[in-house]
Amino acid sequence: MKILLTGASGMVGRNVTESPRSRDYELLTPSHKELDLTDKAAVVAYLEKTRPDMVIHAAGTVGGIAANSQRPLKFLTENLDMGRNIIGGAYLAGVKKFLNLGSSCMYPRNHDTPLTEDMILTGELEPTNEGYALAKIACARMCSYITRENSAFRYKTLIPCNIYGRWDKFTGDRAHMIPAVIRRLSQAVDDGKDTIAIWGDGTARREFMYAGDLADCIWLAVERFDELPELMNVGLGVDYSVDEYYAAIAKAVGFNGNFTHDLTKPAGMKRKLTDVTRMNQFGWRPQMSLADGIRLTVDFYREHFAAKPSEKIGIGWAFISDNGKRRVQEILDSNRLSQGAMVYRFEKEFARLHEQKYGIALNSGTSALHVALEAMKEKFNWCPKSKVLVPAVTFIASSNACLHAGLEPVFVDVDAKTYNIDPAQIESKIDADTVAIMPVHLFGQPCEMDAIVDIAKRHGLQIIEDCAEAHFAKYKGKTVGSFGAAAGFSTYVAHTITTGVGGLVTTNDRELMEISRSLLAHGRACTCEKCVASDPRVVCPLRTKTEMDKRFMFVRLGYSYRIGEFEGVIGLDQLENKDFIMGTREANAAYLTANLQDAQEFLQLPWHPDYATHSFMMYPIVVKKNAPFTRRELTQRLERNNIETRPMMPLLNQPLYKKLFGDLEKDYPVAEWINHCGFYVGCHHGLRRAQLNKIIDCIHGFLKENQCK
Ligand SMILES: Cc1ncc(COP(=O)(O)O)c(C=O)c1O
Repeated sequence: MKILLTGASGMVGRNVTESPRSRDYELLTPSHKELDLTDKAAVVAYLEKTRPDMVIHAAGTVGGIAANSQRPLKFLTENLDMGRNIIGGAYLAGVKKFLNLGSSCMYPRNHDTPLTEDMILTGELEPTNEGYALAKIACARMCSYITRENSAFRYKTLIPCNIYGRWDKFTGDRAHMIPAVIRRLSQAVDDGKDTIAIWGDGTARREFMYAGDLADCIWLAVERFDELPELMNVGLGVDYSVDEYYAAIAKAVGFNGNFTHDLTKPAGMKRKLTDVTRMNQFGWRPQMSLADGIRLTVDFYREHFAAKPSEKIGIGWAFISDNGKRRVQEILDSNRLSQGAMVYRFEKEFARLHEQKYGIALNSGTSALHVALEAMKEKFNWCPKSKVLVPAVTFIASSNACLHAGLEPVFVDVDAKTYNIDPAQIESKIDADTVAIMPVHLFGQPCEMDAIVDIAKRHGLQIIEDCAEAHFAKYKGKTVGSFGAAAGFSTYVAHTITTGVGGLVTTNDRELMEISRSLLAHGRACTCEKCVASDPRVVCPLRTKTEMDKRFMFVRLGYSYRIGEFEGVIGLDQLENKDFIMGTREANAAYLTANLQDAQEFLQLPWHPDYATHSFMMYPIVVKKNAPFTRRELTQRLERNNIETRPMMPLLNQPLYKKLFGDLEKDYPVAEWINHCGFYVGCHHGLRRAQLNKIIDCIHGFLKENQCK
């Protein structure tokens, strides 16, 4: 029998295809790229072409409470469109058997008694997922109506309770309770936390079934389809309290701490339990115990998601989720490698998350700064050799970008605590040729933007932020990159959000966006959305309006700075996992700082004011002047222990800069100190507690030996 399974890459779909019973059937599992279920014509054409004997409809747009309540229109329309197209399309194509997957959200809210199949549409739905529930109800009804009107067609619906298990989502707002708690308690173990607060009083009851069990039920339903009721719950028939789930997960991950209850937080519905009488009559029961199901899910999390301790304690780490890897494969399959829709989506999402209208992706952070400076030069009519104020401690790319754009970098010493440009020293460097300030948010620490914006305003200067190291960092609640005319980000490896190589310009200024887009693509005339998104189905109407095709008309001396779709999908995956990436980095840095307090006599640890967040691209340390050892001695010890270190962005003493600008270092005392005494180690999201402890122990051991000298 040939079966079309929709949503094969989702959690249910994965469990269905992973089941050994799937081998008894010829399974069609088109990816989203191969079959867009929201496109009716594509669905009908696919069914006509493949002619399956049966359809299992497991695809859906799913999400947790936050996503569902923020975007009910999306959950309603996408699920409705997909359902209508596949159910209606299958009917048109003469597919006689259809197994539709519903959800227990379809039931009225707040029922103490178990939910029986005839209770659908007898009461008010849970408002937080109403859009999703309405779509699921409509699809289930559509199936019943088809069977009622034409008995040769048997279109049936299973209504599973909540599920958990392999292929669950463990991060972001798509994570449901069990995977979210698995991650939370696993991290608590890693971080040595001994108390965890549970939302509400812990007595709310939930019914969660292991996804492998649901897959087993689906396959039995396929085998004995004729006997399957038209509508059937698939549940445990028993539920557990939230406290019981926490206890089971704590046991599986080895969390031995205590739980408290945060009664100020919402606990959700008191109870939601499906009635399993029909299911039992059909002759199926779930097999997996809660303890075993949780254990297997924890194994899956550890294998696929939790960072694997690498031998070397490096500076950076690229986490790409399984979903991201699948998307990379889809790009390979699509044969569209150059810049297109994925890059465009990445740009839009990146800009949105950084509170800017436009994001322009290109091949490096240096290119981003270069292009942004050239765009500003054009828009603001800067003369060649105009001056840009740059911190005296930064990666060489910041000031190189000025040189590439035909501008002159003028260095300003940095603050000894934050290592960022010192606002108190900016004004003395401004002269008639100065056009802009480039604050660099070094290591992820925002610069003192109030003071910098004030100086820029008073002197009529532009601001271009170098945010290469500071994705998502905030200064007084505002994201870095949103203070000036434009900003440059890097997504090179070891940066917080990485695409391998890459960078982005962000701006709110349409003109700067258009010039930047043009510059990165050889100076192209057309920078409209249609050309940029490169959707093969849409031809830009401007192209045929002029004698010369506007897409291949060049109006300024540009560069070839583009990236491709691989970077686009990897970038999107990184953004989806940003909470995990940022949260872990912040926690790792806090752990290092807490455990190195006693080293502060000789080592300066990172510090940031309460009104700013730090995105900790790495963990900077500067050896204090009173230390009885040198930076070199300490970093050599760390390196010998397989802990990678790097010097802290020496700039003015670089051979090239000495040649270009002379011996500047002596005029910049803080930079000089940092150049000779600063270094950094990693605190990235792939490091676990054991590795952080190794860094801490190594530093402690070194200090002990050296203080005894
Ligand atoms: C502060 C700063 N600016 C600019 C860049 C340049 O980025 P890319 O290496 O992507 O060209 C970097 C890279 O590390 C950086 O740290």
